[in-house]
Amino acid sequence: MSWEENVRTVTPYTAGEQPKDPGIIKLNTNECPYPPTPKIQEALKELEDTTDRLRLYPDMNATRLVNALADIYGVDPAQIYVGVGSDDVLSMSFLTFFTSGKRILFPDITYSFYDVWAELYRIPYTMVPLRDDFSIDPENYIPDSASYAGKNENIGGLIFPNPNAPTGVALPLADIERIVKANPDIPVIVDEAYVDFGSESARTLLPKYENLLIIQTFSKSRALAGLRIGFAIGSKKMISYLNDVKFSFNSYTMNLPAIVMAEAAVKDDAYFHSLTDRIIETREAFKKDLSALGFTYPDSMTNFVFASHPKVHAKELFAELRAKGILVRYFDKPRINEYLRITVGTREQMQKVVSALREILTEHHAL
Ligand SMILES: Cc1ncc(COP(=O)(O)O)c(C=O)c1O
Repeated sequence: MSWEENVRTVTPYTAGEQPKDPGIIKLNTNECPYPPTPKIQEALKELEDTTDRLRLYPDMNATRLVNALADIYGVDPAQIYVGVGSDDVLSMSFLTFFTSGKRILFPDITYSFYDVWAELYRIPYTMVPLRDDFSIDPENYIPDSASYAGKNENIGGLIFPNPNAPTGVALPLADIERIVKANPDIPVIVDEAYVDFGSESARTLLPKYENLLIIQTFSKSRALAGLRIGFAIGSKKMISYLNDVKFSFNSYTMNLPAIVMAEAAVKDDAYFHSLTDRIIETREAFKKDLSALGFTYPDSMTNFVFASHPKVHAKELFAELRAKGILVRYFDKPRINEYLRITVGTREQMQKVVSALREILTEHHAL
C-alpha cells in the first residue's frame, strides 16, 4: 500500500500553447486580436490613489459587475453569477448541478474540458456522437425520441456549447428550446462562449425554464482573456445553488481590479459590438479565401474556423504553418484529426495565413 493510492489522480485538460515568441501569429486559443475597450484604463484610475483598498478583501458578491451585467441583459441581479473565466463558472456548475450520481450527456466532439471535470468530480458521462456534418442531433437529447442517447439510463444533466467548439457549428434556438422543454427535471447548461459572433443566445428562454443555465465569457468577444472573467445567467434558484457551492469553496474569487475593469468593459456596449462586427466580417472573408484554396469547413458562427483540406493532412499543415510563424490548433483525436482550428485574427493576419497556406499547398502540388 502506498500513500499515492489515496490521491485523487486525474489527467488534466491540455490548454492551447502560449508561445513566448511575440512575433508569432497566435491563432490557437480563440483570443480576440484587438485590445479591450480603452474605458478600462479610465476605470483603473479609480484604483490609482487607493492602493489601500487592496489591503481589504474585495466585495465577495462582485456587486458592481453583477449589476452591470444584469443591466445589459435585462435580468434581475439575482440571476447572475460571476467567476474567474467561464472555466471557473463551468467547473462550479459541474460540482453544483451534476454530482447527483446520475449520468450526464454531452457531445463526443466538444470542449475538451467537460470530460476532465466529469472525471475530476467522479460524474458518470456519455459522449453523444455528433452527426457526420458535426451538427448536434437534438433527438439524441430528447427522452421520448427513438434516438435518445440516455435510453435505459437515469440521466442527471445535459451540457453542450452553442455554438459548439471546436466545430463552430450553431444549433438553432428552436432546437435548444425543444431539448430544454423535453428535460424539465434535470439541469440543462448551454455554454455560450462564442455566442456573440452571430448565433442566437438561449437567454430569451430563461423566463420559461427554471432548470436552464447559460454560461458566457469575457475572453473572446470582450477581448479580456487575460482578466479571467466568466458569468452565468439563470433562474434565481439556479444562481442561488451555484452561490451556495461557491461560498463553500472560495468566497473571494473575484479580485478588485478585475471587478473594476470588467464592469467598465460591460458598460461599453458600442465597443463590444464594434469588436464582434469586425471579427464576423473577417471570418466571412476568410471562409471565402479558404474555399478558394480547396478547404472545407462546417459553417462557423464563432471566432474560429474548423477547416480540412482534401489533399494535405492537417497535421502537416499545422507543422508547416508553425514553421512559418503561424500557430493554430490541431487535435490529434479520432474524427477531427484532419482539421485545423484557426482563430479569426485581424484582416492582415488572416491574409498572411491565406498566403502561407497557398505556399504550402503549392509545394504539395495540392492547388
Ligand atoms: C466552449 C468553451 N467554453 C469555455 C471556454 C473557457 O473560456 P474562459 O475560461 O476563458 O472563459 C472555452 C475556451 O476556449 C471554450 O472554448
